[in-house]
Amino acid sequence: MKYEQIERAARYLNERFTKTPKIGLILGSGLGVLADEIEEPVKIPYNEIPDFPVSTVEGHAGQLVYGGLSGQEVVAMQGRFHFYEGYDFDKVTFPVRVMKELGVEILIVTNAAGGVNESFKAGDLMIITDHINNMGGNPLIGPNDSRMGPRFPDMSEAYSRDLRQLAKEIAGKISINVQEGVYVGNTGPTYETPAEVRLARVLGGDAVGMSTVPEVIVARHGGMKVLGISCISNMAAGILDQPLSHDEVMETTELVRANFLSYVKEIVKSL
Ligand code: HPA
Repeated sequence: MKYEQIERAARYLNERFTKTPKIGLILGSGLGVLADEIEEPVKIPYNEIPDFPVSTVEGHAGQLVYGGLSGQEVVAMQGRFHFYEGYDFDKVTFPVRVMKELGVEILIVTNAAGGVNESFKAGDLMIITDHINNMGGNPLIGPNDSRMGPRFPDMSEAYSRDLRQLAKEIAGKISINVQEGVYVGNTGPTYETPAEVRLARVLGGDAVGMSTVPEVIVARHGGMKVLGISCISNMAAGILDQPLSHDEVMETTELVRANFLSYVKEIVKSL
């Protein structure tokens, strides 16, 4: 994506927003309800924003919601773009570039993920400590525009240590039980085979999902700090003797929604 396209989308949004959002939120499957809690919301459907892709998957509304959350100015993506929908990594990550251009400094990414770590259970929340890019590509491949970030970005702290520490403290404070672990990003749209889940475990993964990795790479390229939270919506394939379904993913996220909402709101408050 060209820098000029990013600027154009940001200019369009700046005409409709009056304040600068410091925090960006990407809300995963079934977690978009958090955007409904934003006060005095300005809602902008993706199809109105120049060069923004449009989401197709069930459970993703497809709009930017800007406004106040826990006393902070935020901009939330209610619905995200996935590689498996047919968008290239450029499109998948375009909104993150635009957020950066809007002035966002901290990106909170959320997703639904399958539990690989056998000590997890469906319904757990997991602070992402690190990720493994198993998506067969990288959104930064191609010429590097140094206005957006360095050619060879450091990924040694992809998920901010400070933010992870803060998220842990807050979980303790409000008595929410959280796990921590490594997120393995696969392309989907198939769920993994049991052998692929074993592979993810051998590689050091604790959860598998179909998003997040490209957005986080681009956020780090642009110098944003990142906090990632997964909702373990199911145990990954082969762990329990039952097939996986999108319905199960949505049902579990619905069950933990209240917990998830209060958790993220409390984190946002303390940023
Ligand atoms: N695998 C990949 N992505 C997912 C899963 C899973 O088990 N659950 C929710 N998103």
